[in-house]
Amino acid sequence: MSEKKFELTDLSTGKKSVAEVKNGTLGPSVLSVANLNKEHGLFTFDPGFMATASCESKITFIDGDEGVLLHRGIPIEQLAEKSNFLEVAYLLINGELPTNDQIGEFTHAIQYHTMINESLLRFFNGFQYNAHPMAMLSGVVASMAAFYHDSMDIHNPRHREIFAHRIIAKIPTIAAAAYKHALGQPFVYPRNDLDYCSNLLHMFFAVPCEQYNVDPVTAQALDLLFILHADHEQNASTSTVRLAGSTGANPYAAISAGISALWGPAHGGANEAVLAMLEQIGTVENVPKFLAKAKDKNDNFRLMGFGHRVYKNFDPRATIIRAMCHKVLAKLGKSDNPLFELALKLEEIALKDEYFVERKLYPNVDFYSGIIYSAIGIPQSMFTVMFAIARTVGWVAHWQEMIADPAMKISRPRQLYTGSPRRDYVEMSKR
Ligand code: SDX
Repeated sequence: MSEKKFELTDLSTGKKSVAEVKNGTLGPSVLSVANLNKEHGLFTFDPGFMATASCESKITFIDGDEGVLLHRGIPIEQLAEKSNFLEVAYLLINGELPTNDQIGEFTHAIQYHTMINESLLRFFNGFQYNAHPMAMLSGVVASMAAFYHDSMDIHNPRHREIFAHRIIAKIPTIAAAAYKHALGQPFVYPRNDLDYCSNLLHMFFAVPCEQYNVDPVTAQALDLLFILHADHEQNASTSTVRLAGSTGANPYAAISAGISALWGPAHGGANEAVLAMLEQIGTVENVPKFLAKAKDKNDNFRLMGFGHRVYKNFDPRATIIRAMCHKVLAKLGKSDNPLFELALKLEEIALKDEYFVERKLYPNVDFYSGIIYSAIGIPQSMFTVMFAIARTVGWVAHWQEMIADPAMKISRPRQLYTGSPRRDYVEMSKR
């Protein structure tokens, strides 16, 4: 495709410059503004990055208008139907679906890195019993840098691979330790004979005084939820991981920064907020009152789980999770889940309301996920932790893609300064 170019003209001076357009494989092309400051003395201005591409990536593609999500070119619907979480993790990180030998080696590497240092385990004794699990997760993940000095040379590909195995393997163990601490129950060590999600459920729900058998329906549901949460292009937390990593900070610090960004209710914290909102609405009769609150500019209430910066159509993940709700609830004998019924009714009413239709506000990945987490016994306080466990593979893939790029530069945005012009210090006696 011929290289398109844009001519930029300063209409006040007539000065012209040419900006290069870069074309991708799919989706919108981008206008390179690298010379804008040199040619015109200007910066671009785009608070919230509404129209800014921050990097080039080969990992995930989203078409928000068509509701398309591809991981290394493969549609999320096919991965949800045919793959499993560790295979998707391998695909995101390495760019291709693994052979039998490759997935065997990858799975073995993950299964044999699941334990955490006993000193790291003792960190949990320092947390309040009611500490939010996301606070514990981000703190303990950052502290991993204090233990794994042997694999922190970010320019060594083998060190980057060991880091990837360690963080993917250990984050469920750290999450489970946070959960057990909150319950006041003893920590349950990982079991290398169990698959990724069965091991997580075992660490969450097993207790020393009785045998715990993982329900395969629950493990399968969790595996599918993790596939659907694994990566999502340059979302806020992934962009945070990239920015933190661009300074050359160790990868555990970058992942911890991503965990903190995910926690916000506008992002990954929404899944916890959706359940709280559904419980607050309580009955279908109250839906109109809460929709009115969501539309009232003087009320900061928002319909949690609705809307998306990119999707102006259905979030394909929400569509899959909604269908999953029916199946999982039926298999668990919880089909008459009142919160699921309320969520379905809320979606139906909202999608007929002009305010939501006009703004193209559809249910996103967080709207239904909490219904399933609840049904499989995960408490609300742990919903965003589950999101973080899954998104860790996306964060790792993007961090590795960035660090391996020889053209990588530190991310350092500029600003529009509207503060005071230069002025002198005023002595106290004259203030
Ligand atoms: C995730 O980026 C990703 O990919 C994220 C994610 C991922 O996988 O990483 O997909 C995961 O974070 C999903 C989003 C979870 N968050 C929520 O469900 C919180 C509720 N949703 C919103 O707060 C909001 O929709 C955002 C944050 C998701 C998107 O916000 P934008 O793109 O900045 O849009 P906006 O706030 O400018 O809204 C545009 C209009 C505004 O009204 P007007 O000023 O035009 O009159 O839509 C309104 C907003 O007030 N609006 C809502 C709304 N979301 C947007 N009004 C009521 N309820 C809502 N949920």
